[in-house]
Amino acid sequence: MRTRTIGNDTVGRVEVGAIGLGLMTFDQTGTQPREQLLHTVKAALGAGVTLFDTADAYGPGEEKGPDAQGENERLIASLLDELGVRDEVFLATKGGAVRTEGGGWAMDSSREHLLEAVDNSLQRLGVEQIALWQHHRPDPEVTWQETLDTLSEIVASGKVRMIGLSNVDPEQIRAAHAQLGDALVSVQNQFSPKFRTSLPEIDVCTELGLAFLPWSPLGGLSDAKELATKHPAFAEIAEARGISAQQVALAWELAQSPVVIPIPGAKRPQSIHDSAAAADLDLTPEEIAALDRE
Ligand SMILES: NC(=O)c1ccc[n+]([C@@H]2O[C@H](COP(=O)([O-])OP(=O)(O)OC[C@H]3O[C@@H](n4cnc5c(N)ncnc54)[C@H](OP(=O)(O)O)[C@@H]3O)[C@@H](O)[C@H]2O)c1
Repeated sequence: MRTRTIGNDTVGRVEVGAIGLGLMTFDQTGTQPREQLLHTVKAALGAGVTLFDTADAYGPGEEKGPDAQGENERLIASLLDELGVRDEVFLATKGGAVRTEGGGWAMDSSREHLLEAVDNSLQRLGVEQIALWQHHRPDPEVTWQETLDTLSEIVASGKVRMIGLSNVDPEQIRAAHAQLGDALVSVQNQFSPKFRTSLPEIDVCTELGLAFLPWSPLGGLSDAKELATKHPAFAEIAEARGISAQQVALAWELAQSPVVIPIPGAKRPQSIHDSAAAADLDLTPEEIAALDRE
């Protein structure tokens, strides 16, 4: 698989597969067979997928509420250990969100919570340093400057190798880059055929040399009716090439900028195997223009 880079001269450059794996739905219901998830991890690695994305708040929230905190991190750590493939994965996590009763989400960017979140993730992932720790989402109760001051403290602690942001706008990215410098390496925002308003953030990331990780990158494609009516160009190119519309979407996202690294979710091996092929798919300029226009 073609690779892309996360990092810089200061924190080091890591080559990762141009398609990553989003782990949010891994065992979200507490019912997925472990064997299937092991096969999905194996299929990802076999296809060249090396960036895996989790978060401390991912887990079966509807079932367990606040007790779901940390379940996804524990699960992926145990799957990687069982397969003996820790060293093959660049494992990114996030902190700053918590689960609430009934499966809800709340933000907490208080200094105490973020510092504790890093310590808890270190412990659950069983590592001495987190490869990429991402701030999950700005907390309306905490100013961005206060949040950045805590992120500076986290960098200074040496507990994380690289810092990322998520769900941020261009101004927040620029302020973070000015304060954190080369410790800041990535931004994770929603971007898909259905959700395109992150183009300004992709531009800022390209300018500053930050990786841009589109989350829910397949939005709008899972429903056949929505695909046919709202995204016909994706469906037509897929049919003409004899590939999935998901592959077309991921290749189109990769074509937006060399800093883009989509993180499609997959609970099934065949999903990530199919998505991974997008890394080596070159769309023509005419195809990209048609998808851009849609
Ligand atoms: N930072 C944030 O605030 C935030 C928010 C949401 C998500 N995320 C990240 O984004 C990741 C992905 O998001 P997501 O799972 O919501 O949405 P997604 O990647 O857009 O879609 C995942 C869905 O598409 C299916 N799929 C995957 N590849 C496919 C393929 N090649 N062909 C057909 N179907 C395919 C999956 O099926 P199966 O699961 O059945 O295999 C799953 O149902 C998450 O895991 C998480 O890491 C971050």
